Amino acid sequence: MKLTVRQKIFICMGLAVLIIGGAHAVTKQVYMESLFDQFRKEEISASYLNAPPGEQIEILKTYVSGKMQKFGFENWIIFIAIGLLISLWISGMLTIPLRKLVAAIERVAKGDLDVNVPVQSRDEYGKVIQTFNDMTLRLREAEDARKRLVADVAHELRTPLSIMQLKLENAQQTGQYVPPEMLLRLHDEVIRLGLFVEDLHVLSLAEAGRLALDCKPLDLSARLEQVVDDVKMEAEENGLEMRFYSNTRPVTVMADARRITQVFINLLTNAIRYTPEGGKISVVIEDKVLDRNAVYTCVSVIDTGIGIPAEELAHLFDRFYRVEKARSRHTGGTGLGLSIAHHLVRAHGGFIRVVSEPDQGTTFTVYLPSLLIVIADNN
Ligand SMILES: Nc1ncnc2c1ncn2[C@@H]1O[C@H](COP(=O)(O)OP(=O)(O)OP(=O)(O)O)[C@@H](O)[C@H]1O
Ligand SMILES: [Mg+2]
Repeated sequence: MKLTVRQKIFICMGLAVLIIGGAHAVTKQVYMESLFDQFRKEEISASYLNAPPGEQIEILKTYVSGKMQKFGFENWIIFIAIGLLISLWISGMLTIPLRKLVAAIERVAKGDLDVNVPVQSRDEYGKVIQTFNDMTLRLREAEDARKRLVADVAHELRTPLSIMQLKLENAQQTGQYVPPEMLLRLHDEVIRLGLFVEDLHVLSLAEAGRLALDCKPLDLSARLEQVVDDVKMEAEENGLEMRFYSNTRPVTVMADARRITQVFINLLTNAIRYTPEGGKISVVIEDKVLDRNAVYTCVSVIDTGIGIPAEELAHLFDRFYRVEKARSRHTGGTGLGLSIAHHLVRAHGGFIRVVSEPDQGTTFTVYLPSLLIVIADNN
């Protein structure tokens, strides 16, 4: 039975009052009977029997009230003591979960997040304990994410920094003239570092919901055509065919042109990076797609590449997540591209879906809220 703490207190106190009240009435009754028995044995003598009825009543009254005064006082002390003991027991019993919770909170306050208080009731305490357990789980996850982030950032910074350090130290020690190609390579590493820091910055702003978007009506179709044109050369250099398909034009959405371009650049560079030579990459735009009672403009980036195993799909949009770490490291990715795309699209009120089949290819579909133009009805 689901009882609230208030109902439990009410029932316990009610039972205590009934028990004490009942016990008090019974003892009083028994005592009164024994009192009259005692009176019969001790007080009913020849002088009592010879006394007039008025005096007999007075003798009985004085005897009973004298005894009752003493009994009342003793009884009062006993029942107060019993009442206090029962209250102590009830308060102790009802605050057991609270005491367990306080002990757990103190452990969390000392920095131990590995606590879990068992939920043993479905009352308010049960709810508080469940919320506390959920809260510590979230704290643990946040702490783990923070540690992972620091480790990942350190790892990503270490490689380019040590390359630059080695090259510079070498040049310094030999005292030789630094050839322009080496300066160029150092410059490349600096640019890579700069881009990485910029990616991290955008991601942290987007995750915190503090990314300022400059949303304006944008012809997404024209913008995609431009983006496809920009990366086409890289695709062709990798032996890939890249095409853009659009049925309708223009397709207008409310978006920050710079940020939304970044989303498609990230998806297209992935498609190029993870599609072997001879593959095909298609970009398809569809307008007014209905999904769960909302209308979206959809852009799909479809490749015929290596695909992604089903068990990896759930983590794909996590920061620094890479499928098959060694392969991705070899191709140079940091694992931030999809995470940034996901947050940027979310900041626009949209979402990304992914469908993939290993060795067959991958389709990323970006859903952006459609800009519905309401035409005034003049009739
Ligand atoms: N089109 C795709 N086909 C196959 N695998 C993909 C595709 N897109 C992403 N992936 C997998 O998802 C992982 C995460 O992608 P993401 O873009 O976040 O990182 P990245 O490309 O490795 O690095 P970055 O984009 O930061 O340079 C990739 O490492 C890759 O394993
Ligand atoms: Mg990428």
